[in-house]
Amino acid sequence: MSSINTPSSSRRAIPHVPVLSLAAFTGGRRAALPSLLDGADVRLVTSGRIAIGLALRALGVGKGDVVLVPAYHSPSMVPPAHWCGAEVAFYRVRPDTAPDLADIGDKVAGGRVKAIIATHFFGIPHDLAPLRALCDRHGIGLVEDCAHAFFGARDGVPVGSTGDYAIGSSMKFFPIYEGGCLVSRRHTLDAALHGAGAGFEVKAALNALEAAFVYGRLPVLRVLLALPLRLKSALWNALKSRGSGTSGGGTAPPAPALAPSSSDSSFDFDARWADKRSSWFSRTVLRGVSPARIVARRRRNYLDLQRALDGVPGCSPLFPRLPDGACPWMFPLVVDRPEAVAAALLRAGVPITRFGATLWPGVDAGVCANSADLGRRLIALPCHQALEDDERTWLHAQVRQALETCAAVPA
Ligand SMILES: Cc1ncc(COP(=O)(O)O)c(C=O)c1O
Repeated sequence: MSSINTPSSSRRAIPHVPVLSLAAFTGGRRAALPSLLDGADVRLVTSGRIAIGLALRALGVGKGDVVLVPAYHSPSMVPPAHWCGAEVAFYRVRPDTAPDLADIGDKVAGGRVKAIIATHFFGIPHDLAPLRALCDRHGIGLVEDCAHAFFGARDGVPVGSTGDYAIGSSMKFFPIYEGGCLVSRRHTLDAALHGAGAGFEVKAALNALEAAFVYGRLPVLRVLLALPLRLKSALWNALKSRGSGTSGGGTAPPAPALAPSSSDSSFDFDARWADKRSSWFSRTVLRGVSPARIVARRRRNYLDLQRALDGVPGCSPLFPRLPDGACPWMFPLVVDRPEAVAAALLRAGVPITRFGATLWPGVDAGVCANSADLGRRLIALPCHQALEDDERTWLHAQVRQALETCAAVPA
């Protein structure tokens, strides 16, 4: 049973990412769609961006090389290329986010492009066969970015199987605090990973549990863990203040971060996590929860939201229909008055994501008009598997109300 938080008690009234519940372990293992991990060599790391860095490194990307990244992107996709010593150039996307092959063709002509990153945005798989052929013609490595598409297939081709390497952001699909994966169905992976220490293991487990408790999940466990969680908070605060305290006139060195900042919605790339394995807790949850439930509920939630918004003024779904092979990350809605609608939704505590609103410096409408337009007008709404029926009903009502109210006010 969930409890919808009032915006004053929490910035987000309903969970923006999947949170843990006992139900997550029910529903069976046979998902209707393939998973990124099926039949692949896999390394479970702490984030998708670390996996991108490892994929580029495996492709031999280095100084003097160029990595092509979609102009519509998360800024977290760029620093992994810089970590390898490469430069980044941005290629155009079409209005539906598909890669613009003509533009990519022009950009590879210079001869310095060593790798291309192609993203299945919002979990809707693209047909990457033409891009694969272009990469093969030019001897360029293809990194399939499945951060939004942990499950799925297009024309029978599973996500993650077209790129030389593919990456996932497991924390977007599973109820875990940290997690990403590097996978390959074409090459053996040689990245060696190590544990990140007891502090990280404890933090990854407790943060995932706390995220569930905030939204009324796992109430019995919440009572049982009340004391250990209070101790954890005291310990964290003591560690945080260690860096700001002085002893003997000098400043003590800051305590090392217990977990990567990628887990806290930052775009940073911290190379110290490049050789770290995802936590035991995250790996256990990843293997233990039901993939069938994730796929089925995300698809149902997406379709229900689409129906709820049918005929509502001032908006249209980015994709006219949800393809059979898609397991959506979020529901992308293109909105006529994005600033007013986003402000109204945030005031109500609706957890929205404005993917592409922040692009890498220099990437503007001159580089790619479609990316700039999507970044400005697109509001992504949650459709993850952990949303309960009352939360979905509430979400539908809030979104309808925000759109109708904004449409009624003269611009
Ligand atoms: C398309 C895309 N690729 C890669 C990443 C990086 O994933 P992570 O946040 O797990 O590092 C993100 C993060 O939002 C993303 O949206």
